[in-house]
Amino acid sequence: MPTQEIRQRVNRRLEELYRRHLSLHDDETVSYYEPGVGYLRPEVAQTEQKSFAVSLATTDGEVFDAGDHAQPFALQSISKVFVYGLALETHGRDRVLERVGVEPSGDAFNSIVFDERNNRPYNPMVNAGALAATALVASGETAEPALERILLTLRRYAGNEDLKVDESTFEAEMRSADRNRATAYLMRSDGMLSGDIEATLALYLRQCSVRVTCQDLAMMAATLANGGVNPATGERPLTASYVRDVLSVMHTCGMYDFAGQWAYRIGIPAKSGVSGGIMAVVPGKLGIAIFSPGLDAYGNSVRGTAVCEEVSDRLGLHIFADNAEDALLGSAGFL
Ligand code: DON
Repeated sequence: MPTQEIRQRVNRRLEELYRRHLSLHDDETVSYYEPGVGYLRPEVAQTEQKSFAVSLATTDGEVFDAGDHAQPFALQSISKVFVYGLALETHGRDRVLERVGVEPSGDAFNSIVFDERNNRPYNPMVNAGALAATALVASGETAEPALERILLTLRRYAGNEDLKVDESTFEAEMRSADRNRATAYLMRSDGMLSGDIEATLALYLRQCSVRVTCQDLAMMAATLANGGVNPATGERPLTASYVRDVLSVMHTCGMYDFAGQWAYRIGIPAKSGVSGGIMAVVPGKLGIAIFSPGLDAYGNSVRGTAVCEEVSDRLGLHIFADNAEDALLGSAGFL
């Protein structure tokens, strides 16, 4: 447990980081995403697009926040991480690997390009692979309906019983789902998906529409950092041996066609979503969450990327950094 003095120091430094990044980056935003509408140019974005929050949750269950940390937003693609974990829990590694690979695609998240050699989507972090993972969860033989299982799982990661689907986001997503629908039907025609495509599509878009706060997201990340056990509640939403699988695909595929640069420069497994959330996992140490809706050309949050890069650099958190660079271990560190 950190002392009061350490807590105050972390809060001060986090506040400084937040204020500095709040005043930067406005001119780097390429677009904002609005469900049902798509990508908006910065000139036509709404005022609420100015939200910005940073939350850290340690594997001891300590939480530090700055900015609009209680403002809810849709998980969007970040949900893919947790549903992939649930598919592994439901069917085991071998069965899941038959339906979705672990290879970076090098393409955009909504690409309709598949791993033809293995007749499956490249990985579960792009839409095609996420549709396959969602279908796997839905095909599990359990008493509870798939949406209930997904919600229960997300709540256990966050330690928040109140997480639920935002119906207006879901309805808007359904109105503009042509590309995901086309992807799913194409996959069925090639034998990569089976069953009711409309039900799979709706379930996928409902998982994308679950609302979280930045603080929830940091705790979800901390649960992965803590080997699958929520550090605050002690609940385990993911078996330890699958944490490794989930973090591996986050590391290689979580930031879309920016994943290689992210692994090189920031070096922490992470996943982003179009609503402007980024979740990053420092194994054994920390969950990091940022919410800031301004997106770069890859569809990743501009401030989210900048904050992760600075935190990784200052704390020596790159997973291939030398121990001597690790400021979390040293007394002069950020935390
Ligand atoms: O599948 C979609 O189109 C969205 N609802 C989710 C996309 C998403 O977050 C991908 N991310 N960057």
